[in-house]
Amino acid sequence: RYLLSRKGPLAGKHVVVTAGGTQEPIDPVRFITNRSSGKQGYAVAQAALDMGADVTLITTPTALNAPCGATVIHVRTAEEMLHAVLTYSRSADLLVMSAAVADFRPAQSAEQKIKKTGKELALTLMPTRDILATVKEKRQQSGFPRHVIGFAAETEDLLNNAQKKLETKGLDMIVANNVSATDAGFEVETNRVSFLFADGRKIDLPLQSKYAVAERILEEALSWL
Ligand code: CTP
Ligand code: CA
Repeated sequence: RYLLSRKGPLAGKHVVVTAGGTQEPIDPVRFITNRSSGKQGYAVAQAALDMGADVTLITTPTALNAPCGATVIHVRTAEEMLHAVLTYSRSADLLVMSAAVADFRPAQSAEQKIKKTGKELALTLMPTRDILATVKEKRQQSGFPRHVIGFAAETEDLLNNAQKKLETKGLDMIVANNVSATDAGFEVETNRVSFLFADGRKIDLPLQSKYAVAERILEEALSWL
C-alpha cells in the first residue's frame, strides 16, 4: 500500500464497496438469494481503483473476476456481510452499498440435505438486519464511514421509494435503479439510474455502461471527500 502508492483524484482515500446477492442457506446444498450479478458493484470497485483509491471489495460469490489491486473479502450471508462492512468501514472515507442484501433468511438451516418427500414443504423466513441502518448508528458514534452511498432497487414508484430510503438510512446519496426494465438493472451490462442527494438535488442519467455509472457515482463523492 505504501510502496505502490496510487495516483488519481481518490489517492489516499479508502473506499469500501459491497457487491452481489447474499446467500441464505436452507440446507448444505441450497440457499435463497437475490437476482444480482454483482456487475454494478464490481464496476464501482474498478472505477475507484482507477481513480487511485484504496479499495476493499466485500463480495458474495459471483461469476466476475476480482478487480486487480482491491482487497477482496468473501462473504455469503447478510449476517457475514454486516460484520465485514462494520469491520472494514471503520476507517473508510466512503462506503458504497451496491450489494443486494437478502431481507429474509430461513429461520433454520438444516444440518443435512433435506430429502424430497413428494409433499409440500413450508419454509419459515426471518428478517435479516439492515446493514445500512446499523452503519448509520455506528457512524453517529464514530464518524466513520465518513460518507455513505446506497442503492434502491425498485419495480414501482422508484423516486418516492428511493427518497424514503435516502432519509431513513441516513445516506449522502442514493442510486435509484428501476429493476423492471430489460436494458437496465439486473444481470445486463448497462444501467439507467437517478441520483438523489441528502441536500435535495436530483440527477437523472441516461442509459450507459455500469462502469460509466460507477464513474459518475464516484465523481459526485469526490466533491465531499
Ligand atoms: N440494504 C442493507 N441491508 C439490508 C437490505 C438492504 O444495507 N438488510 C441496503 C442495500 O444494499 C441498498 C439499500 O439498503 O444499498 C436499499 O436496499 P433495498 O433492497 O432497495 O431496500 P430495503 O431497505 O431492503 O427495502 P425493500 O427491499 O423492502 O424495498
Ligand atoms: Ca431489500
